[in-house]
Amino acid sequence: MDEVRLGVIGVGGMGTEHVRYLRAGDVKRCVLAAVCDVVPERLVPYRDTVKTFDDSATLIRSGAVDAVLIATPHYDHTLIGIDALQQGLHVLTEKPISAHKADAQRLLAAHTDKSRVFSVMYQMRTMPMYRKLRKLVQDGDLGEIRRVNWIITTWYRTEAYYASGGWRATWKGEGGGVLLNQCPHTLDLLQWICGMPVKLRAWCNFGKYHTIEVEDEANAYFEYANGATGLFSTTTAEAPGTNRFEIAGDRGKVVCENNRITFTRNEVNAREYSDTTDERFMPPEVWNVDVPFSAALTSHANIVQNFVNAILDGEPLVAPAEEGMASIELANAMLYSTFENREVSLPLDADSYEAALKARIAGSQFVKGAVKEGSLDLAGSQP
Ligand SMILES: NC(=O)c1ccc[n+]([C@@H]2O[C@H](COP(=O)([O-])OP(=O)(O)OC[C@H]3O[C@@H](n4cnc5c(N)ncnc54)[C@H](O)[C@@H]3O)[C@@H](O)[C@H]2O)c1
Repeated sequence: MDEVRLGVIGVGGMGTEHVRYLRAGDVKRCVLAAVCDVVPERLVPYRDTVKTFDDSATLIRSGAVDAVLIATPHYDHTLIGIDALQQGLHVLTEKPISAHKADAQRLLAAHTDKSRVFSVMYQMRTMPMYRKLRKLVQDGDLGEIRRVNWIITTWYRTEAYYASGGWRATWKGEGGGVLLNQCPHTLDLLQWICGMPVKLRAWCNFGKYHTIEVEDEANAYFEYANGATGLFSTTTAEAPGTNRFEIAGDRGKVVCENNRITFTRNEVNAREYSDTTDERFMPPEVWNVDVPFSAALTSHANIVQNFVNAILDGEPLVAPAEEGMASIELANAMLYSTFENREVSLPLDADSYEAALKARIAGSQFVKGAVKEGSLDLAGSQP
């Protein structure tokens, strides 16, 4: 095989963008061979150029594709992903890999044939700023991490956004709100750079600023195995928003904000200094470093190119699907902590969370009055 025949499943907002850059030739050795959507009108623009399918099972069994990119609502990532893997296709799924941990376990369990490539669309992992930050932390330049703080309130969304698809912002259609839709990227980067906490306590507010039943605001406190603490704060209601990621360690503090990484570096280890100095108030001397990183623009196409290279050449994946579990675990645990009104230890109990989510779905009295005429109720699989 010298090129990958890719099928895009779900050509709504995100799927249409995937199709655009694939057709523009932004991904080498990849040909857009098919598109699929359950809404036939969405297939009309493609009928003359690629094969079109109105259900994923037929596409998956058609022989027309070697791989699929799944860009449907969240619950269907699990169902379609399992089907595609079982039929021997390579799979790239949009984030999150599933809506909840038990579904993610089912999906990952279907990846038995490791010759099939299975990746997740965490394109922010390709951004030079976050790659550099990760390297700083992993190389030990910050020393042992003591505190992590990410304020991410740049995910502003309006009522019109939430009304743009019946699946959005419902327990049944999406499985959560800002933590499941916008924040998977942030939560993935957080754990990719700093690792997973061992426990957390969160306070989520449901429909606080929008006519939705799921969370549009979340604040959480994390604790890590070494005693480091973390604070995470997000909402879709703040404008102008803030995106400030701060990590403090024994060797200094790094702040990632406004497309800059600033590193205030201690000349000596702050903990050792504290134990040995005669000074009573003065902290260690510092250097201020503006950390340079590549200005290269990256996008979704980089992840697809990596996926294609992994299939054709065995290139290591930037975002293996298995690593997509961590962001789901964090999002689910924050919701579970709120549901239970208590601290939650990680790893999260997948069955307990699934039961809690099912109870939310069963108990939902929510009528999405803001749903526009013609929008869809695409619940997909049920948890
Ligand atoms: N990586 C990113 O930056 C990014 C950005 C936006 C959205 N997303 C993700 O992309 C996915 C889709 O989001 P969206 O905003 O495009 O939603 P959308 O509602 O605009 O589009 C979803 C499309 O999937 C179709 N669909 C639903 N069920 C289907 C099925 N079983 N088979 C085939 N087609 C089906 C719908 O008809 C619709 O056209 C979500 O998982 C979302 O989290 C990722």
